[in-house]
Amino acid sequence: MTTPWDPDQYARFEDSRLRPGLELRDRVGHPGPRAVSDLGCGPGALTLALAVRWPRARITGVDHSPEMLARARAATAELPPGVTLAFETGDVATWAPPRPQDVIFSNACLHWVRDHPVLLPRLMGHLAPGGVLAFQVPLSHAEPSHAAMGEVLDREGLGGEDLRRSLARAWVLSPAEYLALLTPHARQVDVWETCYHQVLEGEDPVLEWVRGTGLRPVLDALEGEERERFLAGYREALRTAFPRRSDGTMVYPFPRLFVVART
Ligand SMILES: C[S@@+](CC[C@H](N)C(=O)[O-])C[C@H]1O[C@@H](n2cnc3c(N)ncnc32)[C@H](O)[C@@H]1O
Repeated sequence: MTTPWDPDQYARFEDSRLRPGLELRDRVGHPGPRAVSDLGCGPGALTLALAVRWPRARITGVDHSPEMLARARAATAELPPGVTLAFETGDVATWAPPRPQDVIFSNACLHWVRDHPVLLPRLMGHLAPGGVLAFQVPLSHAEPSHAAMGEVLDREGLGGEDLRRSLARAWVLSPAEYLALLTPHARQVDVWETCYHQVLEGEDPVLEWVRGTGLRPVLDALEGEERERFLAGYREALRTAFPRRSDGTMVYPFPRLFVVART
């Protein structure tokens, strides 16, 4: 089952969401890629940033969400001269490019795709000699914002087994596991973590943040009164976990894992 993505909700906090992707792009280190794919390109802002960085490359954004692809195509209707950008429907789990790629880039997507021990070697196999796989995934799943989802479901007796299992699954591997998995397929593997301590404003900003991403499976699984009951409990849990500071803002830690593997 695929939960629909809402480009408007995702676009809130856009600057903060894009920052890890821009920092990842700046670590790719390929001298002159000609074929670049952006897997799980979403609304296309980073795909465009890749095109700006490598204007001579053919850049392809791939996503399985029609809503996100429509937004990406609209956002990039007018491109700087010489930039080649295309968006295609595709499932990252089975994606195979028509020719080897110089850069396979993926920001905030691969945690939605299962079975990294199979997926990542397959992606490495789609690289041209000297190619680079670069991805960034969240490490939020053990953080209070995400742990509270399961706690509130349990306390309120909401949601089925499938939802609980899906929330509790290992969304990403550990840094050591990514190193072990990719080293046999790469000349060099670089893995690092960064935590962005984000100062957020507004009414329940952490709730609004996760609504656009991690909370989608829960919202999709609950309806009507159950959804409202969940949201009331979850809002309270977030207010406790992320107390408002004297200036009215909240600090929401945003830990991310980065991996760059070079062939
Ligand atoms: C959090 S958004 C990130 C979008 C963009 N990369 C960014 O950083 O702004 C995740 C995107 O991954 C896409 N996605 C998730 N699983 C996917 C899959 N199996 N195949 C293709 N796209 C997928 C979603 O549709 C969504 O657009």
